[in-house]
Amino acid sequence: MTDNAREILVTSALPYANGPIHIGHLVEYIQTDIWARFQRMRGHRCYYVCADDAHGTPIMLRARQEGITPEQLIKETSKSHQADFADFAIQFDNYHSTHSDENRHYAELIFERNQAAGHIHARAIVQAYDPDEQMFLPDRFIKGECPKCGAAEQYGDNCEACGATYAPTELKHAYSAVSGAKPIDKKSEHLFFRLGDFEDMLKSWTHAGHLQSEVANKLDEWFEAGLQEWDISRDAPYFGFEIPGHPGKYFYVWLDAPIGYMASFRNLCDRTGMDFDNWWKPDSDTELYHFIGKDIIYFHALFWPAMLSGAAFRTPTAIYAHGFLTVDGQKMSKSRGTFIKARTYLDHLNPEYLRYYFAAKLGAGVDDIDLNLEDFAQRVNSDLVGKVVNIASRCAGFIRKRFDGRLAAELDDPALFQNFADASETIADLYEKRAFSRAVREIMALADKANQYIDDKKPWVIAKEEGRDSELHAVCSMGIELFRVLMIWLRPILPATAARAEIFLKVPKSGWADAATPLLGHEIAKFKPLMTRVEKDRIDAMIDASKEDLISTESNAKVASETIETPAVVEPVADTIDFDDFAKIDLRVARIANAEHVEGADKLLRLTLDLGGEQRNVFAGIKSAYHPEDLIGKLTVMVANLAPRKMRFGVSEGMVLAAGPGDKDLWILEPHAGAQPGMRIK
Ligand code: 2FM
Ligand code: ZN
Repeated sequence: MTDNAREILVTSALPYANGPIHIGHLVEYIQTDIWARFQRMRGHRCYYVCADDAHGTPIMLRARQEGITPEQLIKETSKSHQADFADFAIQFDNYHSTHSDENRHYAELIFERNQAAGHIHARAIVQAYDPDEQMFLPDRFIKGECPKCGAAEQYGDNCEACGATYAPTELKHAYSAVSGAKPIDKKSEHLFFRLGDFEDMLKSWTHAGHLQSEVANKLDEWFEAGLQEWDISRDAPYFGFEIPGHPGKYFYVWLDAPIGYMASFRNLCDRTGMDFDNWWKPDSDTELYHFIGKDIIYFHALFWPAMLSGAAFRTPTAIYAHGFLTVDGQKMSKSRGTFIKARTYLDHLNPEYLRYYFAAKLGAGVDDIDLNLEDFAQRVNSDLVGKVVNIASRCAGFIRKRFDGRLAAELDDPALFQNFADASETIADLYEKRAFSRAVREIMALADKANQYIDDKKPWVIAKEEGRDSELHAVCSMGIELFRVLMIWLRPILPATAARAEIFLKVPKSGWADAATPLLGHEIAKFKPLMTRVEKDRIDAMIDASKEDLISTESNAKVASETIETPAVVEPVADTIDFDDFAKIDLRVARIANAEHVEGADKLLRLTLDLGGEQRNVFAGIKSAYHPEDLIGKLTVMVANLAPRKMRFGVSEGMVLAAGPGDKDLWILEPHAGAQPGMRIK
């Protein structure tokens, strides 16, 4: 640790505990992880904490749908999130949950301190209420026809067809997405945080270097519109923390979500003996950075510093927002197979490819970044495999075979090495500023120089000539020295490859400063390939697997996603199947015993199918064409021996056959009325 070591606490936004991590999320975790790893390499004390965001209505309802408790749901989700993060080499110092004792403690404390200071007040408001479920409905859980264009099945806050925004009360033929019931208006007392009390503080804070300039400018628009008080309570039933002194009222999920940063750090402090208060007191010398997506700036740059300062805690040193991810220039899409879950990616490709590609694209601003799959393969192959790793593989064999694995005692080209050493601080500066794409460009320009040096010296020619051994030794050693420096600079991005390079180089885990000192006379190990090429068929397989993956990613995704649960119509396939395959399909007559809307699903209806004694639960993508009530009692045809598929909404135990181009023109197959449920179709 150097004398001027900084104490840095870094966070990424807490992922919701009701859905898998996908590549859209990974932009942020990879960005933060690279930055945290860089800080540690510089000798700073840098802690990176995160947690699952475990509260709120969607999580409560999701658990209910799955027939488990919210506690079970968040426990399972946390496990899978942590496994995904670990496999992408996201190195958290602590991963916790907002549903934790520490979070309850700090949520209550922050609330109580703000209340004592007069920043909280209560007043009654009228909201949509589901009389069947006996719960208030968040806007997302009210659906109906768009008041502007008449499009059906629109959410209570905006229309996906025409883009209009409106209040849920304006929807025509509104219904609860939870039960299908018509919402009624109901009054209830809510608690509000007076954000306006912090206007002066926030106006100066947002322009004091804590935010990217484009973010600070955006916030000015919000100041002009006036700071609204913030509704921080929700009525039971709600999965969250009950508010002290207000029975039946719960903290709104967004109140305790950022407090989860503190809770996770507190948990780390309790495990390691660090002094939490020293980090969170108002005049702390420590640094606090939140990496977030640009969609949640309002919460982090206004509410969060206000709440903290109202409760006599420190405010963040900086908030770093990034843009969204597109794939091949478009929003991630299930139907195109570009809605790629972290696990699906990991099943097919090396995580360091993606870490590198994102780094090569990420700047310090809020621009969206595009994952172009062709460019992805080309870039990884040409930069990492073709340039960097190639340097070592071109030189290592000669060192091993001809010089007992020992590097030369002197540098062949000290000026070139100095050129590299001089770039080290420039590259560090770019990392520090989160200008990763520029850092990568610098590193690759130097990798080009190293390759140029080898091309000029032609060790493969020297090797064949008598009496040029020491020259060969000098050139290959120089190549290895340059390779080592490149790998140090790439270490924050490629920790696993860098670790393999360290084994090859027989050096301990490198710090940034190690780049300045050549190894000279050092023994190295046998070279093993450090990274293989990206193969196009692996990418194709990943896209295919993502298409097949029917478990929808949650609607709170960090990307503007298409909410396609399952295609309504299956495209005809060109390949034929033989008769034996056909004979395996068990087609049966089924009676639709019940049909109902599926909360949160745009295209699906939940059907209960009676097979003459046996009942099956099937999700069918026919909502665009049928009202549930029109289906009940009808006979239809189902594939009865399809393996059950776990979907976001439950398990689907078969498939109903339908034909038509889609949308309203879609007809389920209806056998003759004389058919009996359970009959086999021949
Ligand atoms: O937008 C989201 O995905 C939230 N779960 C982020 C929360 S960040 C922090 F405030 F906890
Ligand atoms: Zn509309």
